[in-house]
Amino acid sequence: MSSYKRRPTPGNTEWFVHDRFGMFIHFGLYSMLARHEWIRNFERISNEEMEKYFNHFDPDLFDAGEWAKKAKQAGMKYAILTTKHHEGFCLFDSKHTDYKITNTPFGRDLVREFVDAFRAEGIKIGFYYSLLDWYHPEFTIDCHHPLRDRPDAEELSRPRDMKKYAAYMRDQVRELLTGYGKIDILWFDFSYPEGATPPDKPWMEGKGKNEWESEKLIALARELQPGIIIDNRADLEQDLWTPEQFQVEEWVKHPETGELVTWEACHTFSGSWGYHRDELTWKSPEQLIALLSKTVACGGNLLMNVGPTARGTFDYRADAALEVYAQWMKLNSRAIYGCTMAEPEFTAPNGCRLTQSEDGKRLYIHILEWPFQTLQMDCLAGKIEYAQFLHDASEVKFMEKAQIVGDSVSNTFMLPVNKPNTIVPVIEVFLK
Ligand code: GLC
Repeated sequence: MSSYKRRPTPGNTEWFVHDRFGMFIHFGLYSMLARHEWIRNFERISNEEMEKYFNHFDPDLFDAGEWAKKAKQAGMKYAILTTKHHEGFCLFDSKHTDYKITNTPFGRDLVREFVDAFRAEGIKIGFYYSLLDWYHPEFTIDCHHPLRDRPDAEELSRPRDMKKYAAYMRDQVRELLTGYGKIDILWFDFSYPEGATPPDKPWMEGKGKNEWESEKLIALARELQPGIIIDNRADLEQDLWTPEQFQVEEWVKHPETGELVTWEACHTFSGSWGYHRDELTWKSPEQLIALLSKTVACGGNLLMNVGPTARGTFDYRADAALEVYAQWMKLNSRAIYGCTMAEPEFTAPNGCRLTQSEDGKRLYIHILEWPFQTLQMDCLAGKIEYAQFLHDASEVKFMEKAQIVGDSVSNTFMLPVNKPNTIVPVIEVFLK
């Protein structure tokens, strides 16, 4: 058994740390502007200016079953959809707002179709719910708000009542957690209790657990869906730490107690969460697989984002990235599912990362940088029952005492000169 103990949390994270790999989906009106989901903030776009998008929102090619199949093929075991992002537009048929997908030309409850299709593929269901809301009339204008630079911003903001907005969030969370069956994850986003640094206008305030009334919001969620996993972004520690667009190199630790925590890194294919037509920083296949290997090697989960186009389909570049995962996971998923950071007795050679099965019986060596012929691991001396490549189950010989060109090298895997045809080859070691 793995010797690592995670800090206990209120939700059920057992399935989560087994499954390791999920799909994030960012979809909304911003997908039409196609230049980042924060576009309302960047370009100070008012509610009125958003109307033309609302009136033309029609992802006619949307097929939840196709999304779900692609997620499944990529090896993703859970999916988290933006039910509402910061722009305030709801992808579900909420009774508490008119600013929802069923009032657009599209006219259907996309959240429902997502839930049904993904569940049918055996994929667990997560809801992202934005705490920020740049549309809601009671949401006060702050450092992130699209209207923050208007000369009358303070006047516009003064009569707004965050208590009413907090009640609206509870109403919507109740709808989401009662209307769609079992929900496995609730992903709130995000808090900024200190406001902007350096401070924006003096009258502006940050927002955190007091403004969101996070205790009530979370108590409600736990009452409606016991066991649900909730992230920490409502400014109250719950189940999940969520480092974002950052390559974690060590198991994330609790800042006060130093305990190992349950964590999930979230990443994009190309820097933007919402569909971004002209963004060019798409990650290479090597980077995509390295993110997954490195994350699990540090005891974490990877949540990889797709930003569908406003037609409702995955862009060809997103499809290509998912295909990279599909090909690799088809052959190498044993090094991911049910795996965690290797026991401290094992040290990864240069250019490699290690994962180990929860029961401790198998060690996986992810070879990110292909070496020339030998891979020395003294930590494995006397511990190997059998070793093979995972992608083709071909034996990999481990020489406790090897003779190589006159030189003697010990505790060494003998590798082919050419890197096998899989992006990151993995050696599976059956431990004694
Ligand atoms: C950030 C952004 C947001 C994105 C999220 C995903 O908090 O505000 O646009 O949805 O990260 O982690």
